[in-house]
Amino acid sequence: MNAEEALLGLLARRYSVGPKYLAPPGPTAEQWAQAAALALRAPDHGGLRPFRFVVVGDAQRAALAELFATGAKQRGRASDEIERARARACNGPGLAALVARVRDDVPDVPPHEQWLCVGAALMNFMNALHLMGFGAKALSGASVSDPAVHTAFCRSGERLANWVVVGRPVRVGHPKDPAAKFAGGADDLLLPWPG
Ligand SMILES: Cc1cc2nc3c(=O)[nH]c(=O)nc-3n(C[C@H](O)[C@H](O)[C@H](O)COP(=O)(O)O)c2cc1C
Repeated sequence: MNAEEALLGLLARRYSVGPKYLAPPGPTAEQWAQAAALALRAPDHGGLRPFRFVVVGDAQRAALAELFATGAKQRGRASDEIERARARACNGPGLAALVARVRDDVPDVPPHEQWLCVGAALMNFMNALHLMGFGAKALSGASVSDPAVHTAFCRSGERLANWVVVGRPVRVGHPKDPAAKFAGGADDLLLPWPG
């Protein structure tokens, strides 16, 4: 097998690994930077770079936990749900927010093209981490729409797209629903145009 085939094989084995199955350590500052640099290879019409990543360090987890708990309280959640929201701030040995900056004032680059770029950036970011041996999962939930979380992470015109939890996988990632992917579930994935 040549290097290209090996790399394609590795990429084909990227599956999301949830926080329960992620062990320390998370990425180093250099590894985060390398993943973010790979995200910059996303196709980006107009070079708008409609995304950025914000890494939440260990020392900031307590502050994030307070934000999550306060948000859950304000949404009228019961006390056990508030505690679960608080605990979510400690998910993943590594945690980053993907912040999107999608503009609606660029005539040649409508929002949907910018969102495609954001998604491609997320994929490249996660593939880079996967190739470094990390497991990761993109997560959203109520926190990404919480006003206080928004204020803490976003500048004007931005929105928090999702979190990325990262760590060493304690079990190999696997397809969520193997039957639905390529085993007959994707028969319209790639078709020739009939003309
Ligand atoms: C922006 C975004 C947000 C997501 N949020 C959640 C979430 O909150 N909870 C969840 O279980 N999966 C969420 N997912 C889906 C998982 O990250 C993952 O893609 C899915 O479980 C399928 O696994 P796979 O990546 O191995 O195919 C989200 C995906 C994206 C792209």
